[in-house]
Amino acid sequence: MQKYKIITYGCQMNVHESEKAAGILKTLGYEPCLDEADADLLLYNTCCIRDNAEKRAIGNIGAAKKYKKANRNLIIAVMGCMTQQEKAGESLRSRLPFVDIVIGTNNLDKLGEYITQFTEARKPVIAIDDNENPAINENLPIYRTSGTNAWINIMYGCNNFCTYCIVPYVRGRERSRHPAAVIDEFKAMLDAGYKEITLLGQNVNSYGNDIGLKHGFVDLLEKLASFSGDHRIRFMTSHPKDFSRDLIDVIAGSKNICNNIHLPVQSGSDKILKLMNRHYTRADYLDIIDQIRAKIPNCGITSDIMVGFPYEEEADFLDTLDLVERVKYSGAFTFVYSVRKGTPAAAMPQIDPLIAKDRIMRLVALQNKITKEVSKTYEGRTCRVLCEDMAPKHDNLVCGRTDCGRMVTFSGNIGDIGKFFDVEIESSKSASLFGKVIN
Ligand code: SAH
Ligand code: SF4
Ligand code: F3S
Repeated sequence: MQKYKIITYGCQMNVHESEKAAGILKTLGYEPCLDEADADLLLYNTCCIRDNAEKRAIGNIGAAKKYKKANRNLIIAVMGCMTQQEKAGESLRSRLPFVDIVIGTNNLDKLGEYITQFTEARKPVIAIDDNENPAINENLPIYRTSGTNAWINIMYGCNNFCTYCIVPYVRGRERSRHPAAVIDEFKAMLDAGYKEITLLGQNVNSYGNDIGLKHGFVDLLEKLASFSGDHRIRFMTSHPKDFSRDLIDVIAGSKNICNNIHLPVQSGSDKILKLMNRHYTRADYLDIIDQIRAKIPNCGITSDIMVGFPYEEEADFLDTLDLVERVKYSGAFTFVYSVRKGTPAAAMPQIDPLIAKDRIMRLVALQNKITKEVSKTYEGRTCRVLCEDMAPKHDNLVCGRTDCGRMVTFSGNIGDIGKFFDVEIESSKSASLFGKVIN
């Protein structure tokens, strides 16, 4: 049997797309292997959101040359967002001439055909479809590898064109799946025993706009939450500009929807938010946070925050720190702005990298302090936790997340994976909580 290994970079969207690629490979008779050196096919699923994401992927693909030397029949394929950048297919092949197959984000469904084409002709295959509105293929096989959680795409692409971001260029326009298709997949996942389902989209709050639905996401979520059973629903990502107050009520009113919202703010400065084309102000954002806090008790709110965007001055950065201080995120992904070729911000004057470095360190220090403080507030509380896995490096400890997204470690064994437990939190350490099962 032929063996494959998929190496995935980037966001959950990519993680899930790798599951689709694995589904296709399975139908071709391939089976997964753990070690690159054992593979007959290496598939790199790339990300280009920041320069370092791209460099990491290129570096690792470059290092794969040694496997090709050892196994002349090895097929090396590259897919994902990097391939869809302007002229990326050709430039990837010229930088990494041993890559056999390069496929664009719209071409994944034909992965099987490309592999056959390559094995028959032994000539490089570059297939990158530039269509910004490709039809959604509802029939892709999926080989899920994410344990107790099942990812479900509800939409593809992005229409927002935040001025720093490459995603709209490499993922095309917003395309929503039909609610019936999402509901069918959701039911199938519950029947298959998945306990947690995460709905995916670059901006889930605009779900359905492109297919004429009025309150697409709220209606969908309400419908999905109405299925009975012991399971929970997460979703990401929400864009503050489209975050409807009805959504807060739906989350507050359902025990199945996690009280956990990832609501990237990017910056706390109105000047910068405007330059970023985010379509909300700091006050709009804080108002959403106030409403969430008022209606959803113990809601875990997380964010993406960027520093070093063009024109960011110390005062703008202080506005970001102040916002972080006010919101008290339970966690945040923090980034230094990275120039993406072809985006509007690439043409703006760039700030000194040393200043950006200083700011990211100050931001990380502040958020770490807050994460720790928030963790402390859990001590003594009892949380419902879905056991997701064995704790790293421990035979008798397991881990899983609370509804609000906090990771908890507690004693247990492999048979506990996929079950819910009431766990009393005894101690905390930065973002991690430790506790004991009380039921
Ligand atoms: N669709 C999601 C996020 C997608 S990208 C949203 O709009 O929230 C994930 C995060 O990467 C973004 O929220 C942003 O903080 C960061 N990011 C995107 N482009 C970036 C760039 N050019 N440089 C640095 N960080 C970037
Ligand atoms: Fe990028 Fe903005 Fe779209 Fe998110 S909403 S994917 S940050 S353009
Ligand atoms: Fe990266 Fe593409 Fe996701 S650029 S963050 S993998 S949508």
